[in-house]
Amino acid sequence: MSGGPEEGRRPARGLVARIGGGEQLREILERFYARLATDPMVGFFFAGRDLTAIVAGQQGFLLWAFGEVEELTVRPPREAHRDLPPILRGHFDRRLVILDEVLRESGLDAADREAWLRVERSMRRAVQAGAAGPRQP
Ligand code: HEM
Repeated sequence: MSGGPEEGRRPARGLVARIGGGEQLREILERFYARLATDPMVGFFFAGRDLTAIVAGQQGFLLWAFGEVEELTVRPPREAHRDLPPILRGHFDRRLVILDEVLRESGLDAADREAWLRVERSMRRAVQAGAAGPRQP
């Protein structure tokens, strides 16, 4: 079986401490969402949205997905995206590319970048339009 952050979260244990704590995580996410919001391919999703609130929601999600907290206390991603235009494969992939760039710029080593990206990739079926349908044989 694949899918869901449960299987992806274990390698990410300790990641928040390694990057310097929750405040550093928030600064990385602020840079990430500033980049997303001005990106030619995915920026339109964020037009008129409250980036501070999105960063807070994303941080809450990641603290859970990285195994830092037991309870998810923010809106789950599937619910958070319900009223957005359809997120297509290319949008999802573009977000991963930008995230990898931001994580490199933030000085994360290869293992921590991979652990973080693995959690994000595991969310494709919850977030990408049509990706939750039955698997093709
Ligand atoms: C791994 C994939 C993703 C995860 C885990 C994720 C997670 C989240 C979370 C937790 C929120 C809620 C923030 C809140 O509570 O306000 C959110 C909001 C949002 N996400 Fe994502 N997201 C993902 C992919 C994407 C992609 C690919 C896009 C578009 C290219 C996108 C666009 C947005 C937008 C525009 C909002 C704000 C919705 C609103 O203002 O109500 N997300 N996301």
